[in-house]
Amino acid sequence: MWKFTLKDGREVIVRPLTVEDKDGLFQMFSSMSNEALKWSMAPYTMEVIERWISNIKNLIALVAEWNSKIVGYAMIYKFPHPRRRGVGDLAIYVHQDFHNVGLGTAMMKRLLQLAQKEGMHKIELYVVEDNKVAIHLYKKFGFEIEGVSKDSFFGSNGKYHNMIKMGLLLNSEKTSIIT
Ligand SMILES: CC(C)(COP(=O)(O)OP(=O)(O)OC[C@H]1O[C@@H](n2cnc3c(N)ncnc32)[C@H](O)[C@@H]1OP(=O)(O)O)[C@@H](O)C(=O)NCCC(=O)NCCS
Repeated sequence: MWKFTLKDGREVIVRPLTVEDKDGLFQMFSSMSNEALKWSMAPYTMEVIERWISNIKNLIALVAEWNSKIVGYAMIYKFPHPRRRGVGDLAIYVHQDFHNVGLGTAMMKRLLQLAQKEGMHKIELYVVEDNKVAIHLYKKFGFEIEGVSKDSFFGSNGKYHNMIKMGLLLNSEKTSIIT
């Protein structure tokens, strides 16, 4: 468990996800705005959250708590197939009431530190090209663009958007920001 003071002075606790966090996560996603979720794979229903939690052994996952409420969730799904050993897929969500005050950065840093400690080799992800804040955050941690998947996200605006494939090799010099 780690305590962080955000840029606006609020204190949050970042800790590993547990099976008891189902309802807290559901509350967080249910109160997230359409704007905050527009580049995500929402809706995050109870069924989706239960699926994550039932797979907890294949996750490195953190929640951020403020006033006993979950306000952030970050996870790496560790591919279980031996041919994908050491490779994981990352996702992060911060409630809009906590955007731009350093919570995403704090959670990413802890999550990648944990992945490195576990000996993970590579973290990858897909992000919609228009999601500038997320891309900025990933680049800050050394993620590189590995490709563009054209027109693979159908936005709530009724248009197709490109997705960017990004990757981070955890044993490269690019990961120095994590430690
Ligand atoms: C992406 C996300 C996790 C970032 O979390 P956050 O807590 O706001 O992030 P931080 O406050 O730590 O950092 C935000 C950074 O983006 C920068 N930023 C803000 N607006 C920006 C913009 N329009 N373009 C580029 N960068 C921007 C900030 O300056 C800050 O950078 P800095 O630390 O170098 O100063 C959050 O916006 C989010 O949850 N979005 C919705 C869900 C989502 O899209 N998740 C990712 C895809 S699955």
